[in-house]
Amino acid sequence: MTTQRILTGQVLCFTRSPFEGDPAGAACLDEAVLIENGLISRTGPLADLRAAAPDARIERYDDHLISPGFIDAHAHYPQTAIIASWGKRLRDWLETYTFPEEMRLSDPAYARETANRYLDLTLANGTTTVATFCTSHAHSADAFFQAAHIRNLRAVAGKTCMDRNAPAALLDTARSAYDDSAALIARWHGTDRLTYAISPRFSPTSTPDQLSALGALWAEHPTCLMQTHLSEQIEEIDWVKSLFPTARDYLDTYETHGLLGARGLYGHAIHLTPLERARLSEVGAALIHCPTSNTFIGSGLFDIAARFNDGHRIGLATDTGGGSSFSMLRTMAAAYEIGQLTGTALHPAQLWWLATAGSADALHVSDCIGTIAPGMEADLIAIDLASTPAITQRANTANDIWQAVFPTIMMGDDRAIAQVWVMGEPQS
Ligand code: GUN
Ligand code: ZN
Repeated sequence: MTTQRILTGQVLCFTRSPFEGDPAGAACLDEAVLIENGLISRTGPLADLRAAAPDARIERYDDHLISPGFIDAHAHYPQTAIIASWGKRLRDWLETYTFPEEMRLSDPAYARETANRYLDLTLANGTTTVATFCTSHAHSADAFFQAAHIRNLRAVAGKTCMDRNAPAALLDTARSAYDDSAALIARWHGTDRLTYAISPRFSPTSTPDQLSALGALWAEHPTCLMQTHLSEQIEEIDWVKSLFPTARDYLDTYETHGLLGARGLYGHAIHLTPLERARLSEVGAALIHCPTSNTFIGSGLFDIAARFNDGHRIGLATDTGGGSSFSMLRTMAAAYEIGQLTGTALHPAQLWWLATAGSADALHVSDCIGTIAPGMEADLIAIDLASTPAITQRANTANDIWQAVFPTIMMGDDRAIAQVWVMGEPQS
């Protein structure tokens, strides 16, 4: 039997990237969307969809924006409990807060509890897909994949690999990182909606041997993604120089070991040299912009307009818990503020596209999620554009949809998420 649902609202349909041409003209609004068996079948006037599917159940969200669910292209679910920890820069922050918390996930029960808590929080914030690092314990990846699987989520994750410069309790080896990651790929990659990302944390915590082993693993499993960190802080780049004295630059520490490719996701990528930028755009790799993290840990300003001009693929991410929020609305707001500081006022359409279609493109899943179009998976959210008194009084002055959306981008939070559908199923 076919399950049919019609959602009414202001259905946001991007037809192209708002970074190419007039941003406001990149999307149109439809009155309703028809979902059949978890997939979007069409959008259009309610009367037309009703005629096409007379038995469909109608769910009315008439003043709301119906959007693809948000896609968070870089996060650390094990850092859920240490989000918003005070006063450190990257290395100190890792040593003081992150590594001790990641050690707690040596307990599989705590890993499961954290994965479930994290996904409850992200879903409540309208995020239907995340790409997350786990800890170096293989069971932490199992815990995350299980939690995503029972929620029927499209999700990306990988066991974090580190064989130096971290507490002994978190270290693996080149061999065990390869073996454990390979076993996790066999267990989870391509299972229903799950994708494996081979995950060397970053060059400072992997020996050349480990990077080589993971590069070989990626070559053996080219449909996997590969996620890591790149050029987040100036001190970190100096550290990489001292650890890899013969490397051309930071990116070269990945490239030499087979860890540069189109399916590579490079978190932060703020302080790149011209040569690094050229190589990343040549291969079609994705730079993942983590704006709340970049301000919170004091990393620097990612120049998004310049990077789009260079032709980079770019995703948007919270970087929980270096990032200070689970909300992609708050993340869009921070991207806007960093845009202002780097000379570009990002249009609301550009911000929204980054959090949906842009991140889907970065994760190589834009054929299934990130836009509302026939055949796409129905991971959708209804956004209340008047979720607080402050937002309402501001939105009341709006003359078009983007003016109406912008106050929610800048001031909205989980109260704006009126409903979430995963493969067409409402979550509350
Ligand atoms: N670089 C290496 N590991 C991390 C991490 O956990 N968070 C952030 N923000 N940067 C990193
Ligand atoms: Zn990160």
